[in-house]
Amino acid sequence: AAGDFSPAVIIGTGYGAAVTALRLGEAGIPTVMLEMGQLWNTPGSDGKVFPDMLNPDKRAMWFKKRTEAPLASFLWLDLANRNIDPYAGVLDRVHFGDMSVYVGRGVGGGSLVNGAMAVVPKRWYFEEILPQVDADEMYGKYYPRANAGLGTNSVDATWFESCDCYQYARVSRKHAHNAGLATTFVPSVYDFDYMRREEAGEVPRSALASEVIYGNNHGKRSLDKSYLAAALGTGNVQIRTLHEVRDIAQQPDGTYVLTVRQSDPDGNVLAVKQLAAKYLFLGAGSLGSTELLVRARETGKLPELNDSVGQGWGTNGNVMLGRANHMWDAVGALESGMPALGIDAWDDPQYPVFAEIAPVPAGIETWASLYLAITRNPERGYFTYDAASDSARLQWEISQGQPSIDAAKHLFDRINSVNGTIYRYDLFGDTRAFENRFTYHPLGGLVLGKATDLYGRVKGYRNLYVTDGSLIPGSTGVNPFVTITALAERNIERVLAEDLT
Ligand code: FDA
Repeated sequence: AAGDFSPAVIIGTGYGAAVTALRLGEAGIPTVMLEMGQLWNTPGSDGKVFPDMLNPDKRAMWFKKRTEAPLASFLWLDLANRNIDPYAGVLDRVHFGDMSVYVGRGVGGGSLVNGAMAVVPKRWYFEEILPQVDADEMYGKYYPRANAGLGTNSVDATWFESCDCYQYARVSRKHAHNAGLATTFVPSVYDFDYMRREEAGEVPRSALASEVIYGNNHGKRSLDKSYLAAALGTGNVQIRTLHEVRDIAQQPDGTYVLTVRQSDPDGNVLAVKQLAAKYLFLGAGSLGSTELLVRARETGKLPELNDSVGQGWGTNGNVMLGRANHMWDAVGALESGMPALGIDAWDDPQYPVFAEIAPVPAGIETWASLYLAITRNPERGYFTYDAASDSARLQWEISQGQPSIDAAKHLFDRINSVNGTIYRYDLFGDTRAFENRFTYHPLGGLVLGKATDLYGRVKGYRNLYVTDGSLIPGSTGVNPFVTITALAERNIERVLAEDLT
């Protein structure tokens, strides 16, 4: 028997969860959100909520003894990482053999740690990855709704050309244009007007103070400032932090019962509780939601879950690389941590690539251009259940990352050859030029139309829904959060109209 009951419960507080909470709250439905991470609103002894990338402390990472930054080294030296105390910090890197996955932890999920790039995929590609979803509706209604809710804005093109903090992007743009490639501005949920005032010295710096991946103290419209603030404003939504959902079961009357572990920020378990819900929404992200349902199926708690649960996972083709620039092409010591430009070669018939021009916010001239390339990698991983650790394990082999490298190499070999430049071999801990052993963009595991119906209703169960990136079949061709948000807007509108009357 369950202790506590709420008509609706949402697991997680990332993009899908935040959209769902706002729309349920507006509809007058009492809703509890359960988030395993912290609410990030209290400054530490340094007066800041988040540490920067150059001097990370325990707030940086989720229960690690040492930080695990994506650029493992610089000139082969481990300069970026620091020993820290295990703590409920904001960024996690989850390791599964040959693949590790970065995720945000806290109220706002990935929005706390991400690069804020708010990119809508090419319509033809969206139609290819999700052919059952009406693209007219997505592009006419739900993408605009998502961007409005997220507070997406665009960089002022005149300022971009003259500011110091995007010199690195202008250098990369010149090199791409020399190779006949197109570049495009990427919209952002970082406030570009705030960034302009940062450079002018009018406001405290964040994007311009090496704040990236461990949170931003200013300027970023993370979900706690957009959708979640609005959701709380309805008066119908509550968020419980440091509450991790461990188990989902169902009672004979259809009610879902969650086993929830409440901890303190040092990881001490304070209580194990039960919470029951009539309507249960999974918004714990591709790793979190998929693990909960794989565990529920394999332990017999939700035996009707189908074989698609745990399948169809992809990296969005992520691969990171650096190029070594000539002495006369300085990128500048001041690099905005929030990217504003991408190389758009997605229409390449053989090797589609969308490469964000990424910062190396080291505070010194690096002579390096960094990129996070999104490629079209058809390989997919899947999750199995490991009873000994009671966790879901991602099955992904190193060879499955090769198509990402092939595509990025095709593009950047061309850029290097035209510009007479070479790759950097000192950035990823050994001598590799391409880093494809991690992803920022985990997608899939509970794919729309397979593990769920076409609106995120889990097959085999009533009143059980998936709202997050696990619905997307492994690839979006661009940075994924606007698509996750728009799809959640579309699905909750239908679910509210048909299921929660
Ligand atoms: P998301 O992962 O955001 O949220 C899930 C939440 O659920 C987390 O807060 C987690 O703690 C919580 N949770 C998990 N399991 C739980 C459990 N059992 N119980 C309770 N809570 C649980 N994308 C983009 O479009 N533009 C960009 O610029 C970037 N840049 C970027 C940089 C970095 C460093 C990262 C790590 C990621 C990005 N991304 C990005 C990716 C983007 O942030 C990501 O796609 C979304 O946050 C995914 O949104 P979801 O709603 O799927 O879940």
